[in-house]
Amino acid sequence: DSINLVAIHDSLIAIARQAGEIMRNATGKELETDEKMNAVDVVTETDKRIEDLVNSILTKEYPTFSFVGEESYVKGVTKVTDAPTFICDPIDGTQNFIHGFPLACISLGFTLGRKPQVGVVYNPFSDVLFSAIKGQGAFMVDNFSLAPGQGQGKPQQLPLRPGRKLGSLETALVGIEFGSQRDGHNFDLKLEVYKELTASKATGGAMAGAVRSMGSAALNICYTAAGVMDVYWEGGCYAWDVAAGWCILEEAGGRMAGGNPGVWDPAVDDRKYIAVRQGGEEEQKKIVEEFWALMKGK
Ligand code: IPD
Repeated sequence: DSINLVAIHDSLIAIARQAGEIMRNATGKELETDEKMNAVDVVTETDKRIEDLVNSILTKEYPTFSFVGEESYVKGVTKVTDAPTFICDPIDGTQNFIHGFPLACISLGFTLGRKPQVGVVYNPFSDVLFSAIKGQGAFMVDNFSLAPGQGQGKPQQLPLRPGRKLGSLETALVGIEFGSQRDGHNFDLKLEVYKELTASKATGGAMAGAVRSMGSAALNICYTAAGVMDVYWEGGCYAWDVAAGWCILEEAGGRMAGGNPGVWDPAVDDRKYIAVRQGGEEEQKKIVEEFWALMKGK
């Protein structure tokens, strides 16, 4: 049977709407944290509640499909396979969510043969929804929680700034995240790359136009898809951080690069991701090469 991507997209959007409501209304105990890997890698009751909700709805609607979620992931056991798979980060940007810093979202992806086919990313605090279906374009909706006619805007096609030239790193607005793993090779690499991106050319740096750390991998990718951020780079991403945004980015003409990106197997995929906005294949390649040069030998 062929898989109806539009129906999947619509289901994921309906789920995102419910999840957004839960995130917006969370108070008190729902914001208390439990440590996962370390003191900055945390989970709240709300993360778990939303993942359970997403899982139960999708298992009912699509009982034969696989489900991978950040909070139910078991290292070495949970795998993204070639099967039809939903990939869920119930709250991406958990630290922002806890603090009330308004950059957090639910990220829902669907993959076939490990390739992203549908992506839905919703930030209930800015009330902006990003979504895409493979081959059908990428869109953004403002005031998403309001009913149509009450303010919910028409979907706007991404990118929103198609005219601006994609230059080199020197003129780029670059997103970079530190993630929650604060030791090991990827952490050292992030510090080195950060230093290069911010240091002046006189001191051997690359000095990017601007550097931002928003605290949500999925939103970094969506802003890159929207064309308001030129590049986003991170070492140490998981499938749920990137699957949904990847579909949105590609449908907006952007490009995802990295070391074996999308194999999703930590043994092979070094989990480095470089998202570059739309702006010409040659220009995209040039920026990716500049990034590899920054990482060389590190
Ligand atoms: C994290 C955020 C953060 C990124 C990490 C992610 P979480 O997701 O997206 O910005 O640097 O790599 O794990 O834990 O808030 O869902």
